[in-house]
Parts: sequence; C-alpha cells; structure tokens
Amino acid sequence: MKGIILAGGRATRLRPLTWVISKQLLPVYNKPMIYYPIETLIKAGIKDILIILAPENSGLFLNLLGTGEEFGAHFSYVIQKEPRGLAEAFILAEDFLDHDDVTMILGDNIFDHDFSKEIQNFKKGGQIYCKKLDNIEDVKRLGVIEMKEDGTILSIEEKPEKPKSMYVSVGIYTYDHRVVEIAKNLKPSKRGELEISGDPSVNNTYWKMGELKACVFESYWQDAGTFDSLLEAGNHMSEKSYK
Ligand code: G1P
Repeated sequence: MKGIILAGGRATRLRPLTWVISKQLLPVYNKPMIYYPIETLIKAGIKDILIILAPENSGLFLNLLGTGEEFGAHFSYVIQKEPRGLAEAFILAEDFLDHDDVTMILGDNIFDHDFSKEIQNFKKGGQIYCKKLDNIEDVKRLGVIEMKEDGTILSIEEKPEKPKSMYVSVGIYTYDHRVVEIAKNLKPSKRGELEISGDPSVNNTYWKMGELKACVFESYWQDAGTFDSLLEAGNHMSEKSYK
C-alpha cells in the first residue's frame, strides 16, 4: 500500500492567508498543517508517500519535508500545474503507484484516528471513510453518503443542496490499482473537475461495480479549509496537548 497526500490547489477560501503561502503550510496549533496527514498515513503503516504540490511554494515543502527520513518515511513529489480535481491525483501518480494499492489523504484533513485496521482489512475495490456530522450546513459542503444500517451505500452526492444523510465522506480514500484507469476515463463534472465523489466520479464508478465499501468512524476529524475550521482544528490540538 502506497500513500498520496494531495496538497495542491489555490485555497481561495483562506485568502489573504494564502496569497503568498500554501494552505498546507499554515500552522495548526504547533505544526504546519501537512504534518497531520503525514502522521495519519505513517500511523496507518504507510511510509512510501507521494506529495502532490501546486507549482507555487513547492520549494518550501521540499525544504520543510525533504526525503522523509526524519519522519521514518520516504517522500516523492509531483507538481499539479492546474487544480483539475481530486481524482487527477491518481493520473499524476501513475508511475509512482506502479500498480500498487493506494490510500490518498487530502493535505488539509486533520484526523485523530488510527486507520491501520481498516487499511489492513482492505482487499480490493474502493474504501471510503465516513463520519456522522451534527450540522447540516457543514454536510452541504462535503461529499454525502446515504447508507443502509448494514453499511450498504444507497447514494453518493457531492455538496448537495438537500443532503439525504448526515454521513459525510472525509478526505481519506483507499483504492486498488484500477483507480488510475478509472480516473483516466472520468469525464469532468458540471463544475469542470475530475471528482472523487459525486457523478461522475471515482467513488461512483466503484459503487456501480458493487465494489465500494464505507467504513464509519467516530473519532475527531476536521477539514481545515476555512477560517473557522482552521481555528477549531488548532484549538482541538492545543486542548489535546494539555490532556
Ligand atoms: C473534498 C471532497 C468531499 C469531501 C471533502 C473532505 O471537498 O470533494 O467529498 O467530503 O473533501 O474534506 P473539498 O474540501 O475539496 O471541497
């Protein structure tokens, strides 16, 4: 199992913070944001990691993270020239993956969860990770997964106006080697992106093949891509360090 951290994009929602620095280098309490997804992958046993960067500030990431030796891991890097959607990551990662399975994590997703078990149990197809939220306004800006009690997925929608469920797909995903071909065959969605959730998307493709599994977890998660969620994630990590 290899890892990808997607740390591209322009982070327009966080301007002016992100005019001259990348979102994933901003502080979340006492560390640059990208340390958290790195640590989540390493905790799950994934040490061969490709980091996907926007061209701006890519040198800063290299200075900060280097070969990965200090983390006990091995880092490779690739540049995403234009943000064309999350699923483009698998196309950019084709040579790096070399037909291996992969777990991708978004560079602004902060977890306090150990994914080792779920990832070790992965056999084939696609596996997404879902959390039940309380606030419907948060749900509306995320990938929404409608499920039966036994975990069977009934629908997948990206940022729906009327969510059918309070379960969201968080920014970590596990797929088998077919994800590269699936991503290559995707057509851009209405908003012009190669999507991971929504229609068409990587998750939708695996779901239609009957090969998408949803793992529900309850521990802490935050997508630190807005002012409020960035502040909340920092506060959470600060409180945790005093416990
Ligand atoms: C992306 C995905 C969405 C997912 C979210 C998690 O949204 O498209 O399905 O729920 O990450 O952070 P974005 O934050 O890029 O808008």
